Amino acid sequence: MAADLESVLARADADHPGAIERLKDFLRIPTISTDPKHAPEVRRGAAWSAEQLRALGFDARVVDTPGHPMVLAKHPGPKGVTAPRVLFYGHYDVQPPDPLELWESPPFEPVVVDGPRGKRIVARGAVDDKGQVMTFIEALRAWHACTGSPPCPVTVLLEGEEESGSPSLEPFIESHRKELDADVAIVSDTGMWDVNTPAITTMLRGLVYIEATLSGPSHDLHSGLYGGAIVNPINALACMVASLHHADGRVAIEGFYDEVRPLPERTKAQWAGLGFDEAEFLGAAGLKSGFGEPGFGAMERTWCRPTCDCNGIKGGYIGAGAKTVIASQASAKISCRLVADMDPERTYERLCAHLHARVPVGFHLKIESFGRNPPIRVADESPYLSATERALEKVYGRGPVHIGSGGSIPAVGSIQRILGLESLLVGFGLDDDRVHSPNEKFELTCLHRGTRSHAAILKAIADLRP
Ligand code: BES
Ligand code: MN
Ligand code: MN
Repeated sequence: MAADLESVLARADADHPGAIERLKDFLRIPTISTDPKHAPEVRRGAAWSAEQLRALGFDARVVDTPGHPMVLAKHPGPKGVTAPRVLFYGHYDVQPPDPLELWESPPFEPVVVDGPRGKRIVARGAVDDKGQVMTFIEALRAWHACTGSPPCPVTVLLEGEEESGSPSLEPFIESHRKELDADVAIVSDTGMWDVNTPAITTMLRGLVYIEATLSGPSHDLHSGLYGGAIVNPINALACMVASLHHADGRVAIEGFYDEVRPLPERTKAQWAGLGFDEAEFLGAAGLKSGFGEPGFGAMERTWCRPTCDCNGIKGGYIGAGAKTVIASQASAKISCRLVADMDPERTYERLCAHLHARVPVGFHLKIESFGRNPPIRVADESPYLSATERALEKVYGRGPVHIGSGGSIPAVGSIQRILGLESLLVGFGLDDDRVHSPNEKFELTCLHRGTRSHAAILKAIADLRP
């Protein structure tokens, strides 16, 4: 069987140019899930992915949901072999490309360009998550070409609404429990430590997201005739947003930190050994200094401390030139990142209470919820994890480090809660990939070694034999 893996890896190497072309085809489909006018393209992205899997011997279906469709594909694995069943999860939807004028090439016309680490592919979705989805699809392709099947039973679930908060995911998992049943889940939607050091992410933050709209006057007013005599909704909303933090960076919402516990000593020691370079982290964002909760560095502030941020604010006149007006309303998008032991419902209620307590007399505050997701911790010890570590070591010549991440992947929590499955978060993104930003990219070496990694992980897991 060992010879099998060598030939599968050789096949993946030989097929790397083909893999780049296929990823380009995928990236040309503008699967923007948040914008309803792209629904037909999102569906085309689902159909394209299902077709890829069908060509690899999978029974693949595009399944409708109240939102965008899911891709559900199954392969029974080699005949007569009992091996652990793997569930791959990824998402084929992408973030909107805005602001368009900052792209050096059009977001849905992928280009391969040179960079300091070799060639890279630039397009919306390059790393998040199409490039990463292709790492396991290409690994499955190499297995299919060499042995006619993956080395163990495989189910693939691809979602088209991850970037809009996964509203259809939980009902879908609930109603497809049997088909999704597996022994372990593998998710490639996170990052590496650096280009030569693989990583397993063991913590993800949760998310509570709202839009708060404050309204006062019945209509927009002349700022000369009324200004100074009434509360200006934009001024008042700005005060409400400012009140969310103390001057030193701590979140000022009452009870916000009540459930947050200090990091376990073991994790603290392991993270300290990583040698996180704060200057480099800030430098990648074009900054020289950071800011946040006192007593923590940037690594802890993003991996294991909760936050509250305003993500957008709107109101009044924003066209060219001056308009002397007092707007009748203003709104702010506000989100909190949650860490272990925080409850999304309680955080949501605390945030709403904080804002409601600051509404000017006679004004009205409307709060719309865009979703509440719990923080995630995945087991940092299991036979599947050890198998994955061995496989990554084979590909990279060094084992993975365990990291946390500031981002959120709602599916990981749903898979844990509904299917009772632990996820292995094995991602191939890099810190400078510009996730969600203009000029998003994926290094071709990450595509290639990510593919090799998944080929080797499948083999290592298959060899565990339940
Ligand atoms: N893949 C990202 C999350 C991520 C990025 C995790 C990098 C670790 C490293 C995912 O697609 C994402 O953007 N999630 C959203 C969540 C959401 C509910 C829209 C996020 O974190 O903002
Ligand atoms: Mn993602
Ligand atoms: Mn994303």
